Amino acid sequence: MVVGLLSHDSSLANVVIDNKVGTAYNVDSDYISLRLNRLDSAMTMTYAGTTALITGASSGLGAEFAGQFAARGSNLVLVARRADRLEDLAQDLRSRHRVTVTVLPMDLSRAGVGRELLDELADRGITVDTLINNAGFGTHGPLVEEDPDTIASEIALNVAALVDITRAFLPELLASGKGALVNVASTAAFQPIPGMAVYGATKAFVLSFTEAVAHETKNAGLNVLALCPGATRTEFFDVVGGESAAVGKMQTSDQVVGTALKALDRKDTPGSVVSGWVNRVAAGFAQRLPRAVTVAIAARAVQDS
Ligand SMILES: NC(=O)c1ccc[n+]([C@@H]2O[C@H](COP(=O)([O-])OP(=O)(O)OC[C@H]3O[C@@H](n4cnc5c(N)ncnc54)[C@H](OP(=O)(O)O)[C@@H]3O)[C@@H](O)[C@H]2O)c1
Repeated sequence: MVVGLLSHDSSLANVVIDNKVGTAYNVDSDYISLRLNRLDSAMTMTYAGTTALITGASSGLGAEFAGQFAARGSNLVLVARRADRLEDLAQDLRSRHRVTVTVLPMDLSRAGVGRELLDELADRGITVDTLINNAGFGTHGPLVEEDPDTIASEIALNVAALVDITRAFLPELLASGKGALVNVASTAAFQPIPGMAVYGATKAFVLSFTEAVAHETKNAGLNVLALCPGATRTEFFDVVGGESAAVGKMQTSDQVVGTALKALDRKDTPGSVVSGWVNRVAAGFAQRLPRAVTVAIAARAVQDS
């Protein structure tokens, strides 16, 4: 990295970083070196020896994230409700990759889980460099027929817990500056989905929230990414109640997590990424067509699938 100072007075300096001129205020040498360290670390993602907290790690995308992070040398904290699944995965990853894996069985659809997780890890002396908010589930059917308790849990997990955990760990992630915040959204985020109204809206929230946080933290040395998979072969559709809600050709977890890691490895990690080129084209159309048209197309797609 090439660094230089073009001008300097007591409160303002023009700094040159890799030939780009920027302005820094209230300049002192500590401030400049802090800023530059953070800009530098914003360009890379460290796996080996760091710790990633992954929610929803007992199956599907969460388990795949765990495997691919462990293969790159990352220690892990795995969270979901099914303790036996987490323990089996942890044992397998410890023996194959010689990483430290901590298992925290927990229902995340309760208020205050962010603080609870933070305190639990602090008690164990674990700090987190990367957070992957992946736990989530979907429901399918006309809203009037949906079970009120189930959709309340869906919102609590997909939205409230994700925000709460992000807020709780964000200071730690920023202080580390070595890792990433990944929130798993969906291609469901790009248009309202009649027949999956609640699920689509929760994922629209995740995408909007994550892109805003990415912008807030863009110079702070943290990669922030909303991952938007399309239909993916996991246990998701067992929970939804069958594959009738799956639109288009299914991807594998390996492909989806590969998309996320490729985005994180880029020097200019985008605020969001859609997995799969067909899904990318569809999401592009959904953002450009009139809203009424995208709603009608989404309704047809979910009905016909
Ligand atoms: N598969 C797709 O087609 C698709 C497409 C787009 C986006 N996504 C998103 O991808 C993410 C991962 O889903 P997946 O496809 O991997 O489905 P999955 O195989 O069903 O995995 C969901 C994970 O969330 C955990 N979970 C569910 N409720 C929980 C709770 N109350 N507390 C803690 N953990 C909970 C589950 O573990 P326990 O049951 O053990 O708690 C499981 O580990 C979700 O956010 C989903 O919305 C999936």
